[in-house]
Amino acid sequence: MREKDIVSSSGIVYRPRRLRATPGMRRLVAETRLHPADLVLPLFVKEGLTEPVPLASMPGQVQHTEESLVEAVRAARDAGLGGVMLFGIPTVKDGHGSQADAPDGILQRALRASRAALDEGLAPGAPTPVLMADTCLDEFTDHGHCGVLTSTGAVDNDATLIRYASMAVAQAKAGADVISPSGMMDGQVAMIRDGLDDAGFADTSILAYSAKYASAYYGPFREAVDSELQGDRKTYQMDPANGREGLREADLDLAEGADLVMVKPAGSYLDVLRAVADRSDVPVAAYQVSGEYAMIEAAGANGWIDRDRAVLESVTSIKRAGADVILTYWALEIAEWIK
Ligand code: PBG
Repeated sequence: MREKDIVSSSGIVYRPRRLRATPGMRRLVAETRLHPADLVLPLFVKEGLTEPVPLASMPGQVQHTEESLVEAVRAARDAGLGGVMLFGIPTVKDGHGSQADAPDGILQRALRASRAALDEGLAPGAPTPVLMADTCLDEFTDHGHCGVLTSTGAVDNDATLIRYASMAVAQAKAGADVISPSGMMDGQVAMIRDGLDDAGFADTSILAYSAKYASAYYGPFREAVDSELQGDRKTYQMDPANGREGLREADLDLAEGADLVMVKPAGSYLDVLRAVADRSDVPVAAYQVSGEYAMIEAAGANGWIDRDRAVLESVTSIKRAGADVILTYWALEIAEWIK
């Protein structure tokens, strides 16, 4: 830093407040700017619904019908979002999550309909938002775990990998651009990459949920996907106490061929996000999860915080911490504000 040799009469040499004096100055010097294309909207679609079902713990979010899902995907397209992330909820759940890779399973149907909606009606030259699919069994199993179970009830890592590879191929066939393994099984990225390549989907990308923590902030999501889970996911999702281990998980996923890596949740793990962003040579995503959404909505509804400002502050902070791609349930609303 340059030392100023002429000291002013006040004795104050440096006045950082000059750069905060007007809205125009603040805009000029902002280090972080959100753009609609940074944002990915997670969407839930439930088989057999005739009307969208509002989610009590996620005010403003719904379980979509197949029709209302397509409308939401069109809205995301028209808002110029970076992408959408689809979660499917089947009517029938079983031990193996059979509907997860069924060609006519709810998620595959939703992907096909979304693919068609995204590819039609775009202004010439406008990029098509990226179609992402959650690649995990928990929405499809009757025990609610992210994998299949052994006879003693433990989550069976290697048997689950076979299910994930099959699910990934089903999703790619249905039109997904990005496969998003969120189950935290060891070796999931490599296994899915092999499965996709063998099936002729070498161009389908993998967004790896690399540092995914066993978090209380997923609470509202469990309502959103009608989760059957008893207990917790602590034998596969990470301990919130561990930052270094998150870097190791990201390194492993990079070595296995992940095209993008993710840190999740976002807000309580900005340190991990920054560290992953500093060492990753692929784009880094962060997922602002259901509980982060619910807390700001609830405090805002009570008049305890300024909801809109808190929304923007939280998402801007995630980008400042190093996220290139941000999954947030506010994606559409924020895109409207910043366009
Ligand atoms: C697993 C999955 C979860 C979320 C995204 N993918 C739930 C979990 O791991 O228990 C949580 C997303 C959120 O809370 O918004 N399929």
